[in-house]
Amino acid sequence: MMQNAKPLAEQTVGHHLARPVYQLRNVSKSYAFGKIRALDPVDLDLREGSFSSVIGPSGCGKSTLLKIMAGVTPPSGGSVILDGKPVLGARREIGMMYQQATLFPWMTVLDNVLLPISIRDGKAAAKARHNDAQALLELVGLKGFEKVYPRQLSGGMAQRTSICRMLITEPQVLLLDEPFSALDELARDFMNIELQRICLSQNATAFLITHSIPEAVLLSDDVYIMSPRPGTFLEVVRIELPRPRTLEMMTTATFGEYVRYIRSRLDEGGVTA
Ligand SMILES: Nc1ncnc2c1ncn2[C@@H]1O[C@H](COP(=O)(O)OP(=O)(O)O)[C@@H](O)[C@H]1O
Ligand SMILES: [Mg+2]
Repeated sequence: MMQNAKPLAEQTVGHHLARPVYQLRNVSKSYAFGKIRALDPVDLDLREGSFSSVIGPSGCGKSTLLKIMAGVTPPSGGSVILDGKPVLGARREIGMMYQQATLFPWMTVLDNVLLPISIRDGKAAAKARHNDAQALLELVGLKGFEKVYPRQLSGGMAQRTSICRMLITEPQVLLLDEPFSALDELARDFMNIELQRICLSQNATAFLITHSIPEAVLLSDDVYIMSPRPGTFLEVVRIELPRPRTLEMMTTATFGEYVRYIRSRLDEGGVTA
């Protein structure tokens, strides 16, 4: 059950036969003119509609990896291919979400959601997407909050707004850097189930950085375990729980086994996440 990723030919689970979306080969990164090795060479293949998580100790290079995938930071070595083309800068297929909601306080919820469209295509284009933005807000339970300002939102509501802002551009891939870690546990569980629902309904490919082992197991098809800095993948654990995942599954023996196994591998790696 818990083994390294099998060769592709042996994989039979649905999305593992799907089209490759991301292909990283030997991607590495050092900072400060090579003095800080942040990321040792990693290979990564993400298939369409799959959900993968990365878990590892802090400072091991997780955010660095995500920024390289997003085209925000260039790698020091290796190649990043998205949809058959090298990633050389920001791409419109990519949606990103960070730990903090980073909404603009002087803009309404609706205008915050539409911001990527107005930046990219202008004000008129954003106006034409009003209904889409409203539908997204409804999808995440924020109907009626369109005209509200961010300071009137709870942390969970602000993060839900930033999910909508990410989704309005209809990204094919979602890169998520600990998006719910500032939320309390109940809000976080709820958001995770929301995130799964959104990904399933849009066949989005998701890549999530998290510090939470249960969160990684709950959401993922594959969990990548990273070593301490310079980070590299120690192992890929395939989570063979059926979809849609539910919070009730977190109380099952199988779920607990996955959590314990991943924790033990992280402990072997030297530092507990
Ligand atoms: N812009 C930068 N300049 C120099 N060092 C950096 C920079 N960004 C990150 N680092 C270093 O690289 C390592 C990995 O950082 P990061 O990718 O943020 O780790 P993580 O997200 O896993 O906590 C850390 O030691 C960090 O201090
Ligand atoms: Mg980070």
